[in-house]
Amino acid sequence: MSRRFLVTAALPYSNGRLHVGHIAGAYLPADTYVRYLRLRGDEVRFICGSDDNGVAALKSAREEGKPVEELTAFYNASQRRAFDGLGVRFDIYGGTHQPDYVSLHEKLSQEFFLKIHEKGFFTKRASKQLYDVQAGQFLPDRFVTGVCHYADCGKPQAYGDQCEACGRSIDPLLLKEPQSILTGTTPEPRETVHWYLRLDQLAPRLEKWLRAKQSPTDGSPAWRSTVLNFALGQIGVGLPERAMTRDMTWGVPLPLEDPDAAGKVLYVWFDAPIGYVSFTAALCERLGEGWKAYERWWKDPACRIVHFIGEDNTVFHALTWPAMLLATHEGETPEGRPGEYQLPWQVVANAFVNIKIAGKAEEEKISKSRGTAIWIEDYLKDHDPDPLRYYLTAIAPEAQRTAWDSEAFVERNNAELIATLGNFINRWQKIVSEDFGRKVPPLVNAAEENRALLAELAALPAAVGDDLEAFRFKTALGRVMDGFRAANRYIDVRAPWKSRKSDLAQCGATINVCIQAAKTLGILMTPFLPFAAEKLRASLNVPEAEWTWAAAAVPLPAGHVLGPQPEVLFRKIE
Ligand code: MF3
Ligand code: ZN
Repeated sequence: MSRRFLVTAALPYSNGRLHVGHIAGAYLPADTYVRYLRLRGDEVRFICGSDDNGVAALKSAREEGKPVEELTAFYNASQRRAFDGLGVRFDIYGGTHQPDYVSLHEKLSQEFFLKIHEKGFFTKRASKQLYDVQAGQFLPDRFVTGVCHYADCGKPQAYGDQCEACGRSIDPLLLKEPQSILTGTTPEPRETVHWYLRLDQLAPRLEKWLRAKQSPTDGSPAWRSTVLNFALGQIGVGLPERAMTRDMTWGVPLPLEDPDAAGKVLYVWFDAPIGYVSFTAALCERLGEGWKAYERWWKDPACRIVHFIGEDNTVFHALTWPAMLLATHEGETPEGRPGEYQLPWQVVANAFVNIKIAGKAEEEKISKSRGTAIWIEDYLKDHDPDPLRYYLTAIAPEAQRTAWDSEAFVERNNAELIATLGNFINRWQKIVSEDFGRKVPPLVNAAEENRALLAELAALPAAVGDDLEAFRFKTALGRVMDGFRAANRYIDVRAPWKSRKSDLAQCGATINVCIQAAKTLGILMTPFLPFAAEKLRASLNVPEAEWTWAAAAVPLPAGHVLGPQPEVLFRKIE
């Protein structure tokens, strides 16, 4: 039974390079999930691209002294290479202001805005905004910093749109000790007109939809409580209206004739999630289906939309974006009517990964300025992608923050990937080559240990699959590694290097079981360790079309000719 999924990973701001924290947060779990779905035979589109608009890019362009178009093109390409090097394989990597994508993106974003406008979910009103007198401009979002205005937080370095310490949306006028990042001066409030999304009016429908995600009745996995508690908590204290327009020129122009709309663009958090839609449309166009075919993914409840994000994006994906989608609906139910935008099926958020610095007791936040970030481009210069994928899944911050520890990374590569996984595959290669001409020997005189291991392996695809279906990546990987541990214990007991001299049939049975274990575990490790899995597949000589989740526990028949010995799966890291 094939299902249909649209999977997205948060669009990275194209104003910097990617580090391990980004990868652990959204991109690696998303890629792992997509690879799993593909092995199951589900129909999937995997969408990402850069978030080019808004203040983040402008701010960096200013700092680097480059035109913003050039800066975002540069980082879009750099991020694309980093993802590719890690084996994070999107079906499309667009960019909200990249030349190939910008026109479709603007069109869909403007249509979206107009639809909400027509439905009456915006209020237009004048309000005071922070204005930098010296620079002669308003200071939207990250152009201003200050102290978080929530009494129970009060952390410095909150931005004008969001406090990164507590994750909540910021009202810049309430920000304490506001400071312009352009001039360092204290801005003053001045009047300007904006369009506000009526989150307050949409809240009842949002709440109904979120409550249903707590205990779904259709067998879908419940959402992580971190996401739901945050979103429902925000609804509980009341959702204020939020301005969806900005006084600046970099972004999607406001599509209204109104003279008040001049010189304004859509808020970056309004247009960015629409990037998921416009890149889907661009992909459909590229595949020859015509861009409108995006509706088959976005407006058909038979397709499940899954958003992978980092925790700081929760407010936008669990509240603002669903509110925008609801605001385009004709009816009053969260489900919408046929042909209307459907809401996300899942929002999967990971916490941050901190960093453990050798010699320091406390874990720290990864910091670009303090030079503690591990950049993907740098990592890939000397290392293979799989060990990083492995470690970041093993420490996946699924329920709470975890920390990168370089020593632990090396240790796990050497002790787990090499000594447990790689070693199991190596231990029988010589025997199968020398004694069996690289053909699967028959399983005769099956001993008790043989049946026990085969039974354990036969249960594994369902167990690992259940974990992946429920977004428990760390547990799923743990099960696969337990499988390799069991396989190593098995080969220790059976000692085929001894029986090859005394009882070749017994030895052959052992090798047969080892090959079946390698096939089962090889398929199950594919979503996590795609590069090593591909080498294993080639060495087992299993055609790609038969390397599927359903085939994981189907034995390779006696007589099947293996491929050559696998290339080295994992290299030692010093
Ligand atoms: N650029 C944002 C960030 O890196 C994420 C945007 S996700 C999208 O935090 F939904 F808006 F696209
Ligand atoms: Zn705060």
